[in-house]
Amino acid sequence: MSDSRLESHRDPGSGIRDPKNPAGRDSTLDVLMEAARAVREHAHADYSGFKVGAALETGDGTIVTGCNIENATYGLTVCAERVAMFKALSEGHREFRRMVVVAPPEAPTPPCGACRQVLWEFAGDVEVILANPKGETGRHRMSELLPQPFDSRLLK
Ligand code: THU
Repeated sequence: MSDSRLESHRDPGSGIRDPKNPAGRDSTLDVLMEAARAVREHAHADYSGFKVGAALETGDGTIVTGCNIENATYGLTVCAERVAMFKALSEGHREFRRMVVVAPPEAPTPPCGACRQVLWEFAGDVEVILANPKGETGRHRMSELLPQPFDSRLLK
């Protein structure tokens, strides 16, 4: 899926039942999954071989994607989740609904500590849906992943 299609995908978020989808299947989740799977192919992961894709749904229903980008110095590697979040912030998005993360293993691969801190800072207690290329492997709220956060409240 091209970036322009993703940027133009808007979820009305109205709660109105679609007559073609009376059971209320979460079709936006399917789009997020597919976006995260697709962007994973852009990962720069030559050192680890571990390709990750993330798809972030913003408050207005825009989908912003990110993949992991590694570096020969290793320490400058940036995870898929932070790439997606920083892209979204720099495009002006400030409200976020949820993130889907697709990583290779069978076991669920939750975000690393640095990503949890960044997601908490900008997205708060959103849902993080984990998947491998075959499908969903787990769901967590950020308050579960980062139960005792350091954040701006402590700086007042
Ligand atoms: N990585 C992510 O992109 N997200 C995660 O949630 C875990 C780890 C990346 C960083 C590095 O490029 C590779 O996976 C191995 O750690």
